Amino acid sequence: MSKLWGGRFEKQTDEAVEAFTASIGVDARLWEVDIRGSIAHARMLGKVGVLTPEEADAIIAGLHALREDIAAGRIAFDPKAEDIHSEIERLLTERIGAVAGKLHTARSRNDQVATDTRLYLREGIDTLCEQIRLLQKWLLQTARNHLHTILPGFTHLQHAQPVSLAHHLMAYFWMFQRDRERLTDCRKRVNLLPLGSAALAGTSFPLDREMVAQELGFDGLCENSLDAVSDRDFVVEFLACAALVMTHLSRLAEELVLWSTPEFGFVELDDSVTTGSSIMPQKKNPDVAELIRGRMARAVADLTGALVMLKALPLSYNRDLQEDKGFLFDALDTVLSSVSLMHLMLSRAQFRTERMRQAVRGDFSNATDLADYLVRKGMPFRQAHEVVGRVVQYCLKQGVALEDLDVAQLRTFSDLFGADAVQLLQPEAVMQARRSRGGTAPEAVHQQIQLATQLLGGEDIR
Ligand code: ARG
Repeated sequence: MSKLWGGRFEKQTDEAVEAFTASIGVDARLWEVDIRGSIAHARMLGKVGVLTPEEADAIIAGLHALREDIAAGRIAFDPKAEDIHSEIERLLTERIGAVAGKLHTARSRNDQVATDTRLYLREGIDTLCEQIRLLQKWLLQTARNHLHTILPGFTHLQHAQPVSLAHHLMAYFWMFQRDRERLTDCRKRVNLLPLGSAALAGTSFPLDREMVAQELGFDGLCENSLDAVSDRDFVVEFLACAALVMTHLSRLAEELVLWSTPEFGFVELDDSVTTGSSIMPQKKNPDVAELIRGRMARAVADLTGALVMLKALPLSYNRDLQEDKGFLFDALDTVLSSVSLMHLMLSRAQFRTERMRQAVRGDFSNATDLADYLVRKGMPFRQAHEVVGRVVQYCLKQGVALEDLDVAQLRTFSDLFGADAVQLLQPEAVMQARRSRGGTAPEAVHQQIQLATQLLGGEDIR
């Protein structure tokens, strides 16, 4: 196969070397952004007079036609091609002849591949943000229906204080909100144009880089050609963002795994998003949640891989950089499919709210409130803690719940207890008492939901 760089070589490249250095298997998916970048480059070359209007038109028309044919599945890439950039140029040459050879004027694959990667990633970020937004929307809408649904809140995975399901779900809303903010910030540094940097040092042709940036929707230019062709920290930044999204998904996945056990029984996952066992007929396994949890490892591996690839690379472009796309695409595929599967799994989940309520019964998660009651009646907190400790001990010995005691029983521990103490021991009262901003009381959660609704934007939220 003819090479983009065959001229100075006397011998054929060894086939093993061709196979080892090729990247078409990984970078073929860049075909569309590659063509888009080439169209903008050709148009600009035509405008500045490096190409005649006829040459530019022929190249642009050829690229448009090629794009249509590839999109329609009429073209199969040569699996032995070196990379997608040389393959597109070969296909263009097949179509329009020698003039195709003028497209690469004032351009190198070094600035070309950096441009393609940024365009592709920019769109990946936009898709990911939209998918996260849909997941947040589900969390928000579901939270609205569960302001009064009580379940145990945990610390150390031990019952701590009752919270509402709305509050629990909204905790994830905020994690994903920060993820979207990070991605939006990362996008700013992704969306800068390297093209025009050529191989490493710029070019002697009178390019109009701003024009190319504008046509391709970039917010600005990479300002140093050496940096432009060899910077991949925009990839690392995205991978770090993706690893955090996966971390949040994996925490949520772990809760679904726990909650769907008979021991918890807080959620029933739908048959359509679970799998069975080849030996145990009774099983229904939360494999999707487990794989989301497990694939978090891939995101971390991709991030680590990209960092190690970059470490100690001298300026400017080095072939090591070709490896970036393996990490990037793997992480993008992983995080996109994980967000969308999490959304699917949640949207079909049945929450067992009566089980959640039962789990709070008799769990002593109301003990703090009883001590606070005594404090409000004037008892020092230390002493109140001690008194309530004795009440709890009594209940444990008698095998009764704290909320089942009547006033007479409470008054044997302190005569500060009045009839109202009995009411505040009900889990509903315990939850409703936590009205502090950001707390679990329905009105406090309602407030965060209002704010979240605004942040999410869009009329489709309500
Ligand atoms: N396939 C390469 C990459 O993905 C681009 C080609 C650059 N090759 C070169 N010899 N400068 O990074």
